Amino acid sequence: MASTTSRRLNVDNINPHVREAKYAVRGELAVRSEEYRASLAKGDASLPFEQVISANIGNPQQLDQKPLTFFRQVLSLLENPVLLEKPDVLLNHLGYKPDVLERAKKLLASVGSVGAYSASNGAPAIRQSVADFLERRDGFSASQADIYMSAGASSGVNTLLHVICAHEKSGILVPIPQYPLYTASLSVLNAACVPYLLDEQKNWGTDLATIKASHEKAKAEGIDVRAIVIINPGNPTGASLAEADIRAVIEYASQERLVILADEVYQTNVFIGEFISFKRMLRQMQKEQPGTFDHVELASLHSVSKGMVGECGHRGGYFELVGFDPAVQAEIYKFVSIMLCAPVIGQCLVELMVNPPRPGDPSYELYDAEYSAIFNGLRERATALHKAFEQMEGVECGAPQGSMYLFPSIHLSEKAAAAAAAEGRTPDEFYCMRLLEATGVCVVPGSGFGQKEGTLHFRTTFLAPGTEWVGSIVKFHNEFMEKYR
Ligand SMILES: Cc1ncc(COP(=O)(O)O)c(C=O)c1O
Repeated sequence: MASTTSRRLNVDNINPHVREAKYAVRGELAVRSEEYRASLAKGDASLPFEQVISANIGNPQQLDQKPLTFFRQVLSLLENPVLLEKPDVLLNHLGYKPDVLERAKKLLASVGSVGAYSASNGAPAIRQSVADFLERRDGFSASQADIYMSAGASSGVNTLLHVICAHEKSGILVPIPQYPLYTASLSVLNAACVPYLLDEQKNWGTDLATIKASHEKAKAEGIDVRAIVIINPGNPTGASLAEADIRAVIEYASQERLVILADEVYQTNVFIGEFISFKRMLRQMQKEQPGTFDHVELASLHSVSKGMVGECGHRGGYFELVGFDPAVQAEIYKFVSIMLCAPVIGQCLVELMVNPPRPGDPSYELYDAEYSAIFNGLRERATALHKAFEQMEGVECGAPQGSMYLFPSIHLSEKAAAAAAAEGRTPDEFYCMRLLEATGVCVVPGSGFGQKEGTLHFRTTFLAPGTEWVGSIVKFHNEFMEKYR
């Protein structure tokens, strides 16, 4: 093997912007948790727990969420179309319903083979199906020409940020706390992240005065602020934005000529109130005040990764553009073309997500039962976890509103902070590391998402089945608080 010194690449000469990017969701704690998982699999009995719970990432099927049957039955036929030559076996022996076969044939007619590249922005029939869904969802028209299929929402965000950020003074307003895709991508692009704090006292809603203050400060520093990111429902906060907040953001974006990037991947994970899309609200405001909001540029993103679908390994998503200059849209098309196309099987999953079985369809009953069971299970687990947090000393957590996470604040003693500093960690990292070591439960420290100075949090998903792990967090917490009193 060549010696290290003979390698052309080392960590000091690679792209420094990649080196500087931070992504805590899969950081040190996650790596340690995987090491524990491997040790347990080898029969290591020295650890104080029997399983690792990956509550650090919204990865539903890793945590036993079952795929929706209709979706997987259709996919099985797309991957292996010769099965369609045996309808008797499918219908009478494998329990496939006629609408499964019909949908598979329709999708195959649209894409040819899932092993072939599609159009760069996605198969036209699938984009049309997305546009139809948006019309049903919002009550306003949508065009397939404005839909871009993507490999999950992440690749859509990557595309949009690449096109929006022209130089290192290009700035994007990003909520704090936020899903670190945004800060990490901006680091890689060497563009400016302009953080604005969400309001914990208002259940993590947006606060316009705070947005304005961050924006003004950035402008004064010479940053060319071009867009604002909104994550609704929120990650890591779980917050579901109220109509007034959405209107205020659109009005501000309109006045300040900011592109709105609405990350709506958790749109079906809503427990309190209803999901209101930015597209619907923008169209509503355009109708109410003709001419005032016509120039607003909005990109909204969705994905098969979350919700009751939970197919994040399939990498399917899309974004819709509203109000963009056609010449810019052409450059976006060229950018996605460079990557050829989103995975075609993922595109088909998007089609199934936006056009699931309807009442009266042969597959509807099972689909509805599975979907409701997942939704109710998530809500029950969120409530149980929230109850546990309410009992924990020094922990505060708003009622679960949506998405897949709770983001409690924790108050730790000076003694705990000093012990953390001695290890070169922030107090929340220290707490999360001790939690992992004691219980096998992996969560993410609030510092991984950004948090108001002087506050500490951690984020946990409520995807993991069972309640034992919740009990183990409570027990750990009590012992930790005693130890560092
Ligand atoms: C707010 C938010 N946006 C985007 C993503 C990425 O999703 P995808 O799997 O569709 O790339 C996630 C994943 O957790 C997320 O939480």
